Amino acid sequence: MPTHLVIEGGVPLGGEVAVSAAKNAALPALAAALLTAEPVTLDNVPLLADVTTIRALLARLGAELADESDGSTRVRVASVASPEAPYELVSTMRASVLVLGPLVARAGVARVALPGGCAIGPRPVDQHLKGLQKLGADITITNGYVEARASRLKGARITTDLVTVTGTENLMMAAALAEGTTVLENAAREPEVGDLARLLIAMGARIEGAGTERIEIEGVPELSGARHRIIPDRIEAGTLLVAGAITGGDVTVVGVSPRDLTATLAKLEECGAGITVEGDRVRCQGPARPQPADVITSPFPGFPTDMQAQIMALLGLADGVSKITETIFENRFMHVAELCRMGARIETDGSTAVVRGVPSYQGAQVMATDLRASASLVLAGLAARGTTEVARVYHLDRGYERLETKLQRLGARITRVA
Ligand code: UD1
Repeated sequence: MPTHLVIEGGVPLGGEVAVSAAKNAALPALAAALLTAEPVTLDNVPLLADVTTIRALLARLGAELADESDGSTRVRVASVASPEAPYELVSTMRASVLVLGPLVARAGVARVALPGGCAIGPRPVDQHLKGLQKLGADITITNGYVEARASRLKGARITTDLVTVTGTENLMMAAALAEGTTVLENAAREPEVGDLARLLIAMGARIEGAGTERIEIEGVPELSGARHRIIPDRIEAGTLLVAGAITGGDVTVVGVSPRDLTATLAKLEECGAGITVEGDRVRCQGPARPQPADVITSPFPGFPTDMQAQIMALLGLADGVSKITETIFENRFMHVAELCRMGARIETDGSTAVVRGVPSYQGAQVMATDLRASASLVLAGLAARGTTEVARVYHLDRGYERLETKLQRLGARITRVA
């Protein structure tokens, strides 16, 4: 039987747990190493399946990767050996598209398989491509691959039609080596964009305004190596806090950046959890029963779509009716049917879910088809009466570093069964 997680629910979680570095900051940071011939050293790369995927991709492109004895990861791309990101890697992880901007900026050519559809919606990359065209790249699409060519990119004013996180990152990396000034309007303000900008600035890039909706980049001819510590994972932190809230427990996450969690913490308080912030520590004391709350996902600093499935697991147990509106991804409600199998009463209509709280969940065999949906089923299992088996754990492993070990440390009865 493939690997799954077995959870005996009903234990209030308690204690402290440290969060890992952010997956969504680690992936662009690793891709940024393509921009220079010198080594880029990252102090705290999380051990995740998605990180393994991008490492494999970078190795294909010519990177030497080394895990140092101090725990850091050193990436050196002395020269780009091949400019091609093959379909088998891009299809397992859409964020592989993050190599597109750096490759064309550094090597003058990039061939990246088009990611295609994925479980949570079509997620096209048209904004990445339109932006690169504005920077002077010639873009062609043949045989499922996008090919971008430019002898040297040229700075431009780019306004994306919508807010895209990896699109902003791709264009910021490409513009860092372009000739002249680039202005990115309608840029994503996610903390991971700011973290990438800090790394690029340490490499010698000239970037202002990252973290706002207008980023200005003055291109430089070359970038150098740098050392960088990746920001904490706000989604992992939020998931662990919900684990405290949903079990009526008392959980403290440490090593977090509370400012990056503002929308999630506000929503947990609205649900009746007691939240205490002290430096890089956030404590969540779960309510006897959650209060209902309405949630609308939106780009940062709004409520993150990557926390939508987890908060739904909590609201499913609330004393009343909640409404959840997903504005970022169509089709991101696949956890609903599985939560309903555990006793939840949730109905969806397009991008809206109406959640009628029930007093308890029952354990069940469940599976999920994406990363955060899997996390929501684990959370429901922690609160449920009886045993829950979550199948397809590989989705969870894409984005959480040993989630079950962290939950065990908080007292959860959860085991991985091969
Ligand atoms: C990133 C995160 C992901 C998170 C998402 C939204 C990484 C590696 N992943 O994904 O965890 O859920 O932000 O916060 O950082 N879109 C287009 N055209 C484009 C690009 C995007 O139409 O060229 C659409 C997408 O289909 C989606 C929306 O814009 O509906 C936002 O997507 P985007 O911000 O690009 O998500 P990712 O960067 O892929």
